[in-house]
Amino acid sequence: MSGSSVHETVLSWSAGHERVIGARADESVLSAAERADLALPFGCRTGACATCTGRVVDGRIEHSRPPRALKDRHLAAGYVLLCIAEPRSDCRIEVGSDVQTELVSNPWK
Ligand code: FES
Repeated sequence: MSGSSVHETVLSWSAGHERVIGARADESVLSAAERADLALPFGCRTGACATCTGRVVDGRIEHSRPPRALKDRHLAAGYVLLCIAEPRSDCRIEVGSDVQTELVSNPWK
């Protein structure tokens, strides 16, 4: 198995801009973004806090450890934790605060 293949990963923000980074299959999307000098929000880096949430709209991602901060329905909807998400194909991921806001249900409604 080759753990070093690089997948083209498009990060897209709701405001309309995009960045393409190369993410190795053995590194998290968050680490790949940092290597590309792109700052994404994060907290725990262990899959527990959901600060780094993105949503996969195309491609395949696997979590390197259990994504404790996400519920099954979040996973089914394509949400991933970028601190532990490793690409398994070229992919496109929505990032930014809007994605995180969608994830956290509003307790006032
Ligand atoms: S930084 Fe906490 S879940 Fe990713």
